[in-house]
Amino acid sequence: MKFFIDSADINAIKKFSKIGMVDGVTTNPSIIAKSGRDIREVITEICGIVEGPVSAEVTATQAKKMIEEGEYLSKIAKNVAVKVPLTWDGLETCKVLSDQGIMVNVTLCFSSQQALLAAKAGASFISPFIGRLDDIGEDGMDLIKDIREIYDNYSNLSTEILAASIRTTDHVRRAAIIGADVSTLPPSVLEELAMHPLTDKGLKAFLDDWEKSGQTIM
Ligand code: E4P
Repeated sequence: MKFFIDSADINAIKKFSKIGMVDGVTTNPSIIAKSGRDIREVITEICGIVEGPVSAEVTATQAKKMIEEGEYLSKIAKNVAVKVPLTWDGLETCKVLSDQGIMVNVTLCFSSQQALLAAKAGASFISPFIGRLDDIGEDGMDLIKDIREIYDNYSNLSTEILAASIRTTDHVRRAAIIGADVSTLPPSVLEELAMHPLTDKGLKAFLDDWEKSGQTIM
């Protein structure tokens, strides 16, 4: 499973990239606004750190303008994936940009039928939002399962499933079991993935025993 960082936090992106944990980055208008930085500047910086796809989202809602924004964003760096919402205008934009060889990430996906449309429009990635479905009392993971099954039924569909709106480490575990191609993680969830109380307890016991032995390795 590939890990994308769902953030524009440069320090976090650098920290986890160094350990080989970052295969890409996703942003959205809220994330960029939170960074307090200019979208062009921050996407350029992230693309200089990460080799994999870096999603930058259009904010227009009409296809003509969305296509213009997408073409503009795609010129920032060769690894920019243009993010478009799952609307008919977004799907039209997806088709036009994909036909030009530009990676497109179709976002705000809440049904498997929508995911099918994105794949037919040539999306490189579909972003089903797990956490936001959980928020309204559904099990967001059912959507990942359905999309996996549908995409696997048709060998001509090459869109990658990018599990988004991940809020917990258990979301990552379940998405990986189902076979989502990518999980996009807030840095806090990625941080937590390595943690286990028995690891801490075991390490403490080992170090206490070592201390008592009086030995040193070097
Ligand atoms: C990623 O592409 C999405 O923008 C993001 O995962 C949304 O997460 P949220 O529902 O926690 O805001």
